[in-house]
Amino acid sequence: MSWTIIATWRMALEGVQEGAKLLEYKGNSEDAIEKAIKMVEDFPYYKSVGYGGLPNENGEVELDAAFMDGDSLSIGAVAGIKDFKNPISIARKLSEEKVNCFLVGQGAEDYAHKNGFERMNMLTDRAIIQYKNRLKETVDKGLSPYSGHDTVGMVALDQNNSMASGTSTSGLFMKKRGRTGDSAISGSGFYVDSEIGGATATGLGEDIMKGCSSYEIVRLMKEGYTPQEAADKAVGQLNDLLIKRRKKAGDISVVCINNKGEFGVATNIEGFSFVVATDNLTPTVYVCSSKKGKTSYEVATSEWMDNYMKKRTAPLKLK
Ligand code: GLY
Repeated sequence: MSWTIIATWRMALEGVQEGAKLLEYKGNSEDAIEKAIKMVEDFPYYKSVGYGGLPNENGEVELDAAFMDGDSLSIGAVAGIKDFKNPISIARKLSEEKVNCFLVGQGAEDYAHKNGFERMNMLTDRAIIQYKNRLKETVDKGLSPYSGHDTVGMVALDQNNSMASGTSTSGLFMKKRGRTGDSAISGSGFYVDSEIGGATATGLGEDIMKGCSSYEIVRLMKEGYTPQEAADKAVGQLNDLLIKRRKKAGDISVVCINNKGEFGVATNIEGFSFVVATDNLTPTVYVCSSKKGKTSYEVATSEWMDNYMKKRTAPLKLK
């Protein structure tokens, strides 16, 4: 039987490797998604997800995450949650509730505490250095404070044809307290229906929300488009619409799979990377480029892979 797991960005590789092992041995898509995203959340050098995520303008790490079960369409989500180790697990637990499935801030923290989730200070020394440097640059050079939005988003199909999706992010670096983007919003940052397929997005949440990109991709797959056609069409249309109406489009990148395990990817930026594994493909990192609304991708070279990790783990100094 076939299975697939796909995720945004190279940072998902180690998680996808573990998720793939579960799927290969007939584990379910929900467990694969949770396990894989937890691994990304736990790795301190990824500065846009979980532990080590960059803080808001007040120096606080506020995290967003969501989980969706493609069989029941159950959704759980948290936004602006502080001081809990694995927001994806809290989101998954919320997806089992009948009501009160999307909690923000203090409400999400109360729920996590009551349900025994592990508390943790998510602000690392490395993130503090980046925060202080950025504050200085913002003042010295007049830079915009907003940058960095590499959400991890995943979709999986298991051998029982069940699908699930999840997201986790610290959102925009230097965001306003309480700001949330697309990642916790159903239809924007993620959507999955086991009878059709699933999609997840990364990029500038404020713009992705304008196109409900993940739902749009699933809707297009339902209409008969292949995952690749659906992804290119949804990203291309939103990009063009934003340029027409607002003169500018933020970063938008998506990955998706249909319920046969075929995948698609689209982006309006250079250098978007993603990871995919199937029953026929060992976990592989690809790097994308986009020309005239069509996305192409190549296996990441070993040089690219080395540079990626070197850049993320390079020592940081206060400026
Ligand atoms: N895509 C993540 C965010 O905008 O928060």
